[in-house]
Amino acid sequence: MTVAPRSPPAAESAGGAPAAYRSRPHEPFLVHRGLRYLWVAAAVVAASVVAYAIHRPRLGVANGGTWLGYTLGVIAAALVLWLAYYRIRKRRYGVGRQPLTAWLSAHVYLGIAVVVVATLHAGFELGPNVHGLTWVLLVVVVLSGIVGALAYARYPRQMTRNRAGVALDDLLNQIATLDAECRAASLDLDDALARAVHAAGTDTRIGGGWWRRVVGRDDRCPTRHALDLARSRARDAVGSDARPLRRLITLLARKDALVGIARREARMRTLLGLWLYVHVPATVGLLTALALHVVSVFWYW
Ligand code: HEM
Ligand code: HEM
Repeated sequence: MTVAPRSPPAAESAGGAPAAYRSRPHEPFLVHRGLRYLWVAAAVVAASVVAYAIHRPRLGVANGGTWLGYTLGVIAAALVLWLAYYRIRKRRYGVGRQPLTAWLSAHVYLGIAVVVVATLHAGFELGPNVHGLTWVLLVVVVLSGIVGALAYARYPRQMTRNRAGVALDDLLNQIATLDAECRAASLDLDDALARAVHAAGTDTRIGGGWWRRVVGRDDRCPTRHALDLARSRARDAVGSDARPLRRLITLLARKDALVGIARREARMRTLLGLWLYVHVPATVGLLTALALHVVSVFWYW
């Protein structure tokens, strides 16, 4: 059996769950302290919308260059910097008074609020230029974040249920034991079947490339092939010839089921980390575009 569950960095660093889960494993971050940060974010959004609605700019057009435009721009940029700081905060365990769950909860809700603040800052003037690019990157970061938050709310629980509480290492050990038993059970059977059982032990892949892991199955799985072959032999066998085949079928079927569980685990681990390949690079792009945006507006001022 080949086990290559190369999970993306986040899923690995989080051991299959977001870092926030490890500080308080039983508290879902989306409802941390009765949705406290949802209310904070709603207040930020409401204050920005009201200020935008009552604001009367001198030239009659709301934009980033009015006093309200600057205020909202600075608030949006400060929030972006604070949200990006989460990468550092999450790696410093036990530091600070707030648990990581609180940080992640605030991260999620204030991260969504920042889109509203930045859009009002721009006065809805979104063109194909470095300013518009800053806004687009912000939206990409936020959308990928929403995908990630949904994945974190869903997969860790599904993973535990999938393995019925059994640790992944134990599952892999059980598969290895079954491999050895299958090989022993196939010793007295015909060559083709013995070869198929041997291949099931050496060539069955659980991990592999990220696409294979996301698909979560292998249509040419050697274990399934050996199982199908053993079943077809059993259909033709009579009397005592069928007994060793039935034992082999039981073992292979058990292994096939465990391999299915391990593949689903690898799939969920991958999905749990995949979105970060968008979230983190887009954050770097956003910080760069934001710096260019601020420099360019002051340059042409
Ligand atoms: C996440 C943060 C920010 C985003 C997404 C953002 C995005 C934008 C966008 C899309 C525009 C409209 C550009 C246009 O009219 O074509 C704009 C305008 C502007 N922004 Fe920002 N901005 C942010 C932060 C800031 C900050 C921190 C400052 C300065 C301290 C700033 C200063 C300005 C100014 C002065 C304008 C008006 C430019 C003009 O009308 O020519 N922005 N911003
Ligand atoms: C401007 C907005 C945002 C920025 C700059 C930002 C930036 C970041 C950064 C730098 C990380 C750390 C990644 C790592 O090293 O593992 C992170 C993690 C994360 N972000 Fe965001 N983010 C933003 C908005 C959002 C939003 C709106 C959501 C969800 C609705 C979100 C959900 C998450 C989640 C679930 C994590 C992983 C948490 C963990 O592993 O503990 N982010 N974000």
